[in-house]
Amino acid sequence: MTQDELKKATAEAALQRILPHLEDDMIIGIGTGSTANFFIDALAEHRNSFDGCVASSEASADRLKQHGIPVYDLNSVSELRFYIDGADETNEHLHLIKGGGAALTREKIVAAVSKEFICIADGSKKVGVLGEFPLPVEVIPMARSHVARELVKLGGDPAYREGVMTDNGNIILDVWNLKITDAVALEQKINQIVGVVTNGLFAARPADVLLLGTAEGVETIK
Ligand code: 5RP
Repeated sequence: MTQDELKKATAEAALQRILPHLEDDMIIGIGTGSTANFFIDALAEHRNSFDGCVASSEASADRLKQHGIPVYDLNSVSELRFYIDGADETNEHLHLIKGGGAALTREKIVAAVSKEFICIADGSKKVGVLGEFPLPVEVIPMARSHVARELVKLGGDPAYREGVMTDNGNIILDVWNLKITDAVALEQKINQIVGVVTNGLFAARPADVLLLGTAEGVETIK
């Protein structure tokens, strides 16, 4: 199977997992990226079984709207029953690296409001130690050099993601060469650097369920 076929299979598995729980007034949190896009397309076939969605990016909001699915401002919603999103890396504790699509801050906010975070990913995303994928950090533009120097002190090699501005008007530094053995501690440490908006470690609030697409089928890890 191709990587896209594996992504699609996990998206379909997530849909099957939530279908029995859908209610007319339910609002669902939706992530960003190619795996989340497969989920949006699958969910669209059931658009009359729930109320609408909150999206973690303008791109996902646009895709949902193209399917005729209402998109709500998170401020008008008190709780999301489900949040479905992909990841760039995951470990066995369901700590994630996210932000390859530069949507990490909104993704983290939507995840925080969600009762159940279902992560959907192809098997290549599961690693022993997080950090082979460069850790994205969203930064206020004027703090770019300061934050980069502080990230070097933490042992990383930050690289400015050229030509990318987040939906919040900020820049991304991708931090290479981190071997992340204590993801909870590193997430907190990086967030304490002045000028950092957020970082792509989802460890303080990890996924609740990981649906991992493999050649043998979709594995469920909790
Ligand atoms: C976007 C993300 C995505 O979830 C992550 O990059 C995975 O993307 P894809 O599903 O395309 O592999 O964090 O900010």
